[in-house]
Amino acid sequence: MSDVELRVVDDVEAAGEAAAQLIAEAAKGGGHIGLSGGSGPRTAYERAAILQPDWGRAELWWIDERCVPPDDGRSNYRMIRESLLDGLARPPAAVHRVRGEAPPEEAADEYDAALDGVTLALALMGIGPDGHTASLFPNAPALDETERRAVAAEAGLEPFVPRVTLTRPALAAAETMVYLATGEGKADAVGRAFGQEPSPATPASLVRGRRTIAILDRPAAERLAT
Ligand code: 6PG
Repeated sequence: MSDVELRVVDDVEAAGEAAAQLIAEAAKGGGHIGLSGGSGPRTAYERAAILQPDWGRAELWWIDERCVPPDDGRSNYRMIRESLLDGLARPPAAVHRVRGEAPPEEAADEYDAALDGVTLALALMGIGPDGHTASLFPNAPALDETERRAVAAEAGLEPFVPRVTLTRPALAAAETMVYLATGEGKADAVGRAFGQEPSPATPASLVRGRRTIAILDRPAAERLAT
């Protein structure tokens, strides 16, 4: 029994393509789109820009950010600018970046206020090998947040810089949540997130949208009974 629609595809390229199609569809439909950083989704973003070069009806948000300046190599803003925004013919109606260069609490307060009244049409999530998603790390206090839409958080994994992350209530309101996880290094976390009882030890097991889809390649899905 799963509350998640599992889509297992052959390899990392097919997973990126499947995610790109969902992102492109959402951009075409318009509304608020939340994207994660990390390395996993880069090719999906590049492909989404090709499939749907007009993002004029969409507004872009970050699921989480590393607290570094926007031109830093670790910045999720920079990754998404390079892989997605730079390839678009028409930019989003608004690009809501987290001010990674500001003190984390201040940046989180600003983002929380900016998110007032916003419901994400799509939230694109990654999973870390430790089971984290967004910057919600295993057993972290941020997992207990019930009011705010964005909070400052400590990193549980590299890069060890403070984070700003959307919270469980903000993410739970998302109309469609898409997890993208590929490679055998994610198999254990994927097994715990989608195949076992929800637990704060595996934040990705606790974070679900109103509808949740998990796009996995075979190596990442290897510990799931599919
Ligand atoms: C971040 C990401 C993060 C990511 C996972 C998976 O800033 O670290 O937004 O939450 O989605 O860590 O990252 P990879 O795709 O790099 O494995």
